[in-house]
Amino acid sequence: MITGSTGNTGTSTAEILLDRGYRVRALVRREDARSEALEQAGAEIAKADLLDFRSLSDTMHGVTSAYFCYPIVPGLLEATANFAQAASEAGVRSVVNMSQISARREAASNAARQHWLGERLLDRTTMLTAHLRPTFFAEWIDWFWARRGEQGVLRLPFGDGRHAPIAGRDQAYVIAAILQNPQPHDRQIYPLTGPVEMNHYEIAEAVSRALGIPVTYEPISIEEFRQGLTDKEWQPHVIQHLAAVAQDYQAGIFAGANNLVHVVGNKTPMTVEEYVLFKKDAFAQDGPNAIPDKEETTA
Ligand SMILES: NC(=O)c1ccc[n+]([C@@H]2O[C@H](COP(=O)([O-])OP(=O)(O)OC[C@H]3O[C@@H](n4cnc5c(N)ncnc54)[C@H](OP(=O)(O)O)[C@@H]3O)[C@@H](O)[C@H]2O)c1
Repeated sequence: MITGSTGNTGTSTAEILLDRGYRVRALVRREDARSEALEQAGAEIAKADLLDFRSLSDTMHGVTSAYFCYPIVPGLLEATANFAQAASEAGVRSVVNMSQISARREAASNAARQHWLGERLLDRTTMLTAHLRPTFFAEWIDWFWARRGEQGVLRLPFGDGRHAPIAGRDQAYVIAAILQNPQPHDRQIYPLTGPVEMNHYEIAEAVSRALGIPVTYEPISIEEFRQGLTDKEWQPHVIQHLAAVAQDYQAGIFAGANNLVHVVGNKTPMTVEEYVLFKKDAFAQDGPNAIPDKEETTA
């Protein structure tokens, strides 16, 4: 069972497991082009909402292993409790839980603290349980990328903090591997990273090398970032989370690099340059979340 199957890590996980000949049930909230593509690839589509216990419970029969993934929106703990109960009742043997590197008891981000609580809740079930705590996804680069003619700009509130960006696709190899063989990973917490730790000046240089155009990192304040997201009418829950984790990022919480994608997922993770080439079309225009600078806003 793949929850979040129409999302970044879920879609790739479903594809990898289908390619390997597994039966995959994809939980979707609605039938659309994305669920159709999953069905075409061979997945069984189950329509349910993680916030609706009854519909969720109805999809669980016969499931052996599940990927639990819920986005940064309100409701994570309710979704986790619904999932834990429905999966336990159905005799699901194992779960891979998507959390994040900032998940801590003392996290200032409400969502990050809820991830930590969600982990603890799943640990109290009898399921074999593995928690993934990725650093920032490589997708941040194209989500927040601004294209200005033959140049690119990254405007983010990360100072000169560092992390090793990890693509959603690479995480899917880890998720699939654990779903296939959960026992050795029981009660493990994996801080997933990409291969190379970098600051955003170095990330901009890598994007520049991949695209062959100048790319600049413009560090902005957390306040400007918060205002930019507010102007885009993002949910307060998400803004609270992103402002708090930007502070965490500057304090080094997202730093580090390791070989877990290789060891657990048997996959060599993409460097930033490889990722940019993999998603090249996304860099032809502004990313969906690009924060305009003040001159652009007033122009
Ligand atoms: N982005 C990062 O840098 C980063 C870093 C570390 C950890 N993470 C963690 O990664 C997770 C997000 O993973 P992702 O990027 O693979 O997901 P995603 O692309 O944000 O997709 C979320 C998925 O969840 C589904 N969904 C949303 N609400 C639902 C509900 N009520 N019931 C059932 N399904 C629901 C969505 O369906 P619809 O599309 O139909 O809404 C979609 O398939 C979050 O938990 C986040 O904390 C992210």
